[in-house]
Amino acid sequence: MKKLVILSGAGISQESGIKTFRDMGGLWEEYDINEVATPEAWERNPELVMRFYNDRRKQLLGCEPNKGHYGLAALEKDFDVHIITQNVDDLHERAGSSKVLHLHGELKKARSSVDENLIYDIDGWELKFGDRCKHESQLRPHIVWFGEQVPAIEEALPIVHDAEIFVVVGTSLNVYPAAGLLNYVRRGVPVFLIDPNPVDVYSKVTFIKEKAGKGVEILKNELKKYL
Ligand code: APR
Repeated sequence: MKKLVILSGAGISQESGIKTFRDMGGLWEEYDINEVATPEAWERNPELVMRFYNDRRKQLLGCEPNKGHYGLAALEKDFDVHIITQNVDDLHERAGSSKVLHLHGELKKARSSVDENLIYDIDGWELKFGDRCKHESQLRPHIVWFGEQVPAIEEALPIVHDAEIFVVVGTSLNVYPAAGLLNYVRRGVPVFLIDPNPVDVYSKVTFIKEKAGKGVEILKNELKKYL
């Protein structure tokens, strides 16, 4: 089976009712990144940060995977599919994808604020002040904030390097190091990009200008020639 690597972003979950970040009406229009998504914000105003992620988590519990997520999961029948996602939702997993690497953390998890390797599942939607790790420190959302390291990138690099087919879906490619992964795709490897809007890329891609649901269906047809 050919190794098919997918880099996904907020756009794949848009049809599930989750807002993207940088589209019109996106989350970063409503909220200031510096007030909710940085370690400094957590220091300054933890209540606001906690509420922001609790709200996101509450919303996620009411969302379902869409045709795009299911379509990518179904590709496992014919390909060795690896999903590298910038999303913190669990919709790829709920659709049945078996290899999902989260670059930016996971909304349904919390982690210790003194040991980043201590990670806990959050029961329900609410992480509370007073929820502590085994070292008695307050738990924080398991989210990679702006200005923080992206440790999972180390695991992503060899996956991208070994890709035989590469697909980018639903990301504006604005945020590094995730956006830079495209540069690690080997020369000659076919690259597909699914997005209803133009995305700036410097490499040669087959652009499927559709939302993820329809776009993944078109991709499936395109991939027939690589079976
Ligand atoms: N299907 C596919 N793509 C879509 C859809 C859809 N239904 N709707 C919108 N898009 C596209 C947009 O055109 C845009 O190119 O999805 C992309 C979303 O881009 P961003 O909002 O910038 O999201 P993303 O690239 O995932 O952001 C990266 O930024 O704020 C941080 O940590 C956050 O992981 C996030 C990172």
